[in-house]
Parts: sequence; C-alpha cells; structure tokens
Amino acid sequence: MTETTTAVSAEQQAAEEALTAKVLASFANTTDPRLKQLMQSLTKHLHAFIREVRLTEAEWGKAIEFLTQVGHITDERRQEFILLSDVLGASMQTITVNNPVAGNATEATVFGPFFLETAPEIPIGGDLAGGATGQPAWVEGTVCDLEGNPVPNARIEVWEADEDGFYDVQYDDDRVAGRAHLYSDENGHYAFWGLTPTPYPIPHDGPVGAMLEATGRSPVRAAHLHFMVTAPAMRTLVTHIFVEGDPQLEIGDSVFGVKDSLIKRFETQSAGTPTPDGRDLSGTDWARARFDIVLAPQN
Ligand code: BEZ
Ligand code: FE
Repeated sequence: MTETTTAVSAEQQAAEEALTAKVLASFANTTDPRLKQLMQSLTKHLHAFIREVRLTEAEWGKAIEFLTQVGHITDERRQEFILLSDVLGASMQTITVNNPVAGNATEATVFGPFFLETAPEIPIGGDLAGGATGQPAWVEGTVCDLEGNPVPNARIEVWEADEDGFYDVQYDDDRVAGRAHLYSDENGHYAFWGLTPTPYPIPHDGPVGAMLEATGRSPVRAAHLHFMVTAPAMRTLVTHIFVEGDPQLEIGDSVFGVKDSLIKRFETQSAGTPTPDGRDLSGTDWARARFDIVLAPQN
C-alpha cells in the first residue's frame, strides 16, 4: 500500500486501506481476467493518488466538473479526450509500451485527432497541398523492412497543417487540403509534394487549454508532418517527421511526441532551383527532405 505523505493516525490509515481493499474485492468476480486486472490496478492507483495528495472534496468536485466540460466540447469534429490524453503524455506512454524497439524500425509517435480515412489518393510525385498555403516541400524516401528489403505497395497516409497552423477539418467548410495517400513503388520508393511544416498550437480554447494555461504550459507543437504507413504482415507505423532547426524542438512539444530519430532536414532551395520533377517553382522558395521508413514485422 502506498504511504501517505501527510502523517495520519494508525486508525485513519486502517480505515483508508480497508476501503481500498473493499473496492478491490468488488471486482474479484470479474470473469474477464484482463478487465479484472485493469479495474483492480486502476482502483489501487486512484486510491493511492487520493490518499497521497489528501484530495479535498472541493478538488474532486472540480476534477469532475473539468471532465464534464471535456465531454461537452467533444463531438465528431473535436475530440477533447484525446487532447487530454495527449497533453498528459498518456498517448505517448501507450505508444511507447506498444511499439517496443525493433532493430532499426522507424519510431512511432502520436496519432493526433486530425487523420481522415477519406484522404484522396495521389500518384508518386503528386501534390497533397490541395490549396493549403505554405512553402512547397518535396519529400521522398523508401519503405523497407528490418533487413533492408524494399516494401512495395505500402500505403502511406500523410497529413499536415497549413502555414497558419490549421488542418483542413478545422475550417468551417468542406475543403480537403494538406492530406493524401499514396503507395510505394516496386522498389519501395515514394515521393510527394507537401508543405514545410510550421509549429502550431493544439486546440486550446477548451478545458484542456485552460488546464495548460493554469499550469504555465504552452499548447504549441513542434512543426511536423504526419505519416501512417501500412503494409501486409508489417506493424502499422504511425509517426511524424519534425523539422531540424525548429526552435520549438528546444522549447518542447506540448504532446511529448518528439523523438530525435524523427528530426529531418528540410533543405531550403531558392526560387528557381530546378525541382526533381520539373515543377516550375521559379517564383518561390521550396524545400526538400528525405525520410526513409523502416517497418517492423507484425507481432
Ligand atoms: C496533431 O499533431 O495533429 C495533434 C496531436 C495531438 C493533439 C492535437 C493535435
Ligand atoms: Fe499534427
């Protein structure tokens, strides 16, 4: 049993421990063993927390009010519970537990709330911007397995915010922009035009934003480009690439998603530099980045 930090009488301690034991016993007949483990462990940790901080009734009431607000603001377009899980590091911890290091497999990071299954398909070398504004970026690489064999026909989903820091779904219209999927070719190669990512805040006009404010934390995420890569017999990879030199990498990412291996150089090319596919970008700077993806086998 966790010791309380505030000294309490032996009698008081016994009463608290007896209650915890009673609640644990209430789950004793759960037939699903995993559910039993989850509920009993949750009980133990929750009771330990309450006892350790000597939680007041007013504080517990506030916590319930907070969770109620999280529920009220959540709908098909806004998922405040995922946001809460993200800023508490619970999403990243679950990802860390479930994606054990496997050789040189590309590391996973947070999914976030802005993926859509319905993103359009583009050919290799296609443009996913769909009118989203920002510096054009040519991103290319290969998809391989742990032995370095190319993975052909891997489905690569890519999504990102525009230069104002908004995903298409955050606008009040039905635009589809800054997202697409494509497939690696027979050599595992892929390439597309996207946008050089820029830092942006996670939605912070709700209860999670208020919690960040109250705790002196920033809602800003390091600049990133989302990927989800799937292929038969391979572990699905949900990840991002981050932008080398982004000052937000030093300041910190509000959802703890950064891993050093995912920081990539976006090399700026001045306007007029010939592009890999002959696209005319004589009027604007552009960038190029390489991201080689290594998939682990499915467990
Ligand atoms: C995102 O990267 O899209 C994101 C991740 C976690 C919370 C909010 C947004
Ligand atoms: Fe994002």
